[in-house]
Amino acid sequence: MKVLILGAGGLTGRYLAKEAKRRGMEVVALAHGDLDVTRPDGARDALAKWKPDWVINSASWTSLEKCEEDPAGSKKIHAEAPREWAKECGKAQVRFVHLGTDYIFDGTKKTAYLPGDAPSPLSRYGRDKAAGEKQVLLANPQALIVRLAWVFGHGGATFMSKLPAILMEKEVVELAGGRVGSCTYAGEAARIILDLVEKKAHGITHGVQAGQTTWKEFAMKAVERMREKGKKVGCREIREVPMEQMAGLKTPRPAFSPLEIGETETIIGRKIPSWEKGLAEYLDEIGL
Ligand SMILES: NC(=O)c1ccc[n+]([C@@H]2O[C@H](COP(=O)([O-])OP(=O)(O)OC[C@H]3O[C@@H](n4cnc5c(N)ncnc54)[C@H](OP(=O)(O)O)[C@@H]3O)[C@@H](O)[C@H]2O)c1
Repeated sequence: MKVLILGAGGLTGRYLAKEAKRRGMEVVALAHGDLDVTRPDGARDALAKWKPDWVINSASWTSLEKCEEDPAGSKKIHAEAPREWAKECGKAQVRFVHLGTDYIFDGTKKTAYLPGDAPSPLSRYGRDKAAGEKQVLLANPQALIVRLAWVFGHGGATFMSKLPAILMEKEVVELAGGRVGSCTYAGEAARIILDLVEKKAHGITHGVQAGQTTWKEFAMKAVERMREKGKKVGCREIREVPMEQMAGLKTPRPAFSPLEIGETETIIGRKIPSWEKGLAEYLDEIGL
């Protein structure tokens, strides 16, 4: 099976390429510099050139602030380009996977969000990602959407990716409080996505690890685990700060956005490990 990965230089894309190779798939991993997914006719040309069986679109602007500043650019990468790729993949009979986000929800629900719950985004990023999902499925009903949340992994630009190193170094660590969500080690996200691919899944699914957490709980768990392993953790205090007071987090994010994974587990035929297991795997990977 030949898989073409778009946005392959990013956090999830890198783990996807590694996991697909581990499974013996033929992988064409294209980073932003190799292929701009918004390029007109880029999808048609790439499909003709690489002839993949599957395309996985991991290209995105994950900075919510950048999306607010450049709404036209956000719409292009999160809605227009995915629709184009989905359409061209449909025409060429190539299966298309698009990655989604919990930020399409407003966080007012009291229980974990189901794949079928109606989007109600709070930000430009959330609106364009929600529009992208809809347009992908309209253009190609056989497409697969896998929603992720709070992804962390080696070399990731996300706060959770950087948190273990920050906890090692700083005595007082401030982080955004008041938010509950699902999270995912990028290695497990890649395994879930490729399990769904191997099952030829389509429609909307959730690809996060079991359980829900807060950034503080995640940080405390990381400290506990690193100390158990004999690491000299510098952090003595973890302080929660209201999200709107944190620099770089001015754009609203849902306060409660865990994603329900029961349907995904049924499709892939296995239980998805807890986020604590994902965190432990990540710490082992980075030697902390
Ligand atoms: N990270 C999270 O916590 C999170 C949470 C929920 C959902 N997701 C979803 O998961 C998917 C993967 O995100 P990620 O975590 O891997 O983010 P990431 O590390 O920011 O990777 C995104 C990649 O897309 C590339 N890119 C940007 N514009 C592009 C373009 N026009 N053409 C081709 N590539 C382009 C970026 O390259 P440059 O850096 O060079 O621009 C970057 O390498 C996205 O759909 C995102 O919405 C992520």
